Amino acid sequence: MLHQYIGDFAQYVGQEVTVKGWIYNIRTSKTNVFFELRDGSGYCQVVVSLENVGEELFEKANQLTIESAVSFTGTVIADEKQKGGYEVQVKDLHIYNIAQSYPLAQREKDLGVAYLQDNRHLWLRKERQWAIMRLRNELIMGIHEFFQSEKFVQMDAPLLTGTACEGTTDLFQTDFFGAPAYLSQSGQLYGEAMAMAMGKIYTFGPTFRSEKSDTPRHLAEFWMIEPEMAFYTNEDNMELIERFVKSVIGRILKTSRKELEIVGRDISKLETVVNQPFVRVTYHDAAKILRGELEVNGRNAIKIQEEDLAQAKADIEAKKAEIAEREAKVKSGQLKKGERQFNEAKIIALQGEITTLEEKVRNIPMWIESAKNFNKVEEDDLGNSDETVLTRAFDAPVMVYNWPAKIKSFYMKRHPDNPEVVKGVDLLAPEGYGEIIGGSERETDCELLIERIKEHGLNQEDFEWYLDLRRFGSVPHSGFGLGLERLVRWVCGLNHVRETAPFPRRYGRITP
Ligand code: 4AD
Repeated sequence: MLHQYIGDFAQYVGQEVTVKGWIYNIRTSKTNVFFELRDGSGYCQVVVSLENVGEELFEKANQLTIESAVSFTGTVIADEKQKGGYEVQVKDLHIYNIAQSYPLAQREKDLGVAYLQDNRHLWLRKERQWAIMRLRNELIMGIHEFFQSEKFVQMDAPLLTGTACEGTTDLFQTDFFGAPAYLSQSGQLYGEAMAMAMGKIYTFGPTFRSEKSDTPRHLAEFWMIEPEMAFYTNEDNMELIERFVKSVIGRILKTSRKELEIVGRDISKLETVVNQPFVRVTYHDAAKILRGELEVNGRNAIKIQEEDLAQAKADIEAKKAEIAEREAKVKSGQLKKGERQFNEAKIIALQGEITTLEEKVRNIPMWIESAKNFNKVEEDDLGNSDETVLTRAFDAPVMVYNWPAKIKSFYMKRHPDNPEVVKGVDLLAPEGYGEIIGGSERETDCELLIERIKEHGLNQEDFEWYLDLRRFGSVPHSGFGLGLERLVRWVCGLNHVRETAPFPRRYGRITP
């Protein structure tokens, strides 16, 4: 018979189960061993008591180490005090493997990020990483559910390609039977062809960019979701983006509260996203907001940064005072062991918070400087800090549209009223998470496209098949690309994209 999973314990209360997993934590007393067991579906307390199992099994239980693999048979007791809400009182146990001294037994923050990354294959077992990967899984489900319910056809675009979609600077080149080929930067061009066959499609696959950017939001390999819709204008595209993002966030709030709590997400921030309209602002208005020339709901983006800076400085002082107070208590020698440990842990946590705040205090003046000078010389893409400053001025996600043609891709449709502008859109996630979606209406004019292909230094011959889409039954069409890892980072509230994929590939890291 198959064993049972912790995640299903609600249906086994009072019954006997066999649960198989790994030891996450151990506490022992003379007559009891308390294990925290993880089985992939959840965490629960397991009690092996001398009285219930006898000396031989009790001895066996005492041999178990962190990450030993084991099977326990016993009764499920509902107990709200326990993590996960259940406890198993053991009758029998079987050991699969006694783990050697476990190199990741300490807390994540005591191990350090470099060490954790080198041990990603083990790091994935930590509860926070477990929660992030489960959230990623639910987001993937939510994305498929949305597009399938809207009758989009999922398609797989090729990963080996002969053409560049998003510019030639960050292509990974490979060898295709003696000829150069590239790892796909985007499935879009193939998505456009498929949309003309199916009406509405979406791709969901890996994409590659050899960007030498060691930033908290860049990966060399990331998963992109690219819907493409025939007969959609960019206005229709923006309407779809808003409904799509609200649907995915709304779903995760229903399915995954527990995991969001484990990663420490402020859930109210995500609820706001579902409950209010997204902001729509043109690129040129965004530039004015950044320079502090245009206010948003009576608020000035530069002033908000100045207030944030003052607040961060005040918070640092308050936290330093709290540390001093707690240190004095610890030094007094009058605290009980538990209280002393509590205070010591709190001091470490406060020091971590101060480090984060100090980084903010260093950054904000630079962000203000960059925002104030935005586009003073020439039209430019929004930098990371510009996105932070812009999104801080709003609570909702921001759609920036009507971009300067010269900083966007060759396929974007020129605005009928202004050929210097393209009908492109970026969606910026709030709280400073920044761009998670890029999209546009596509150019339909064959001659204009040829001109732009040449302007971008691309080889027209490689794009003949793409130009055919304009020669045979050309229609207005639009689409966008969502970076899955950027979505996971925002939803989980993570500082860095390195925790959003099981085995992230980014500048300077290809192992494990
Ligand atoms: O804005 P991008 O480059 O757009 C495209 O690739 C279009 N072909 C999409 C389309 O219209 N079908 O990229 C889209 C999204 C970005 O908004 C970002 O979320 C993600 O892909 N992305 C990255 N994510 C992680 N690491 C990187 N290096 C990324 N580059 C882009």
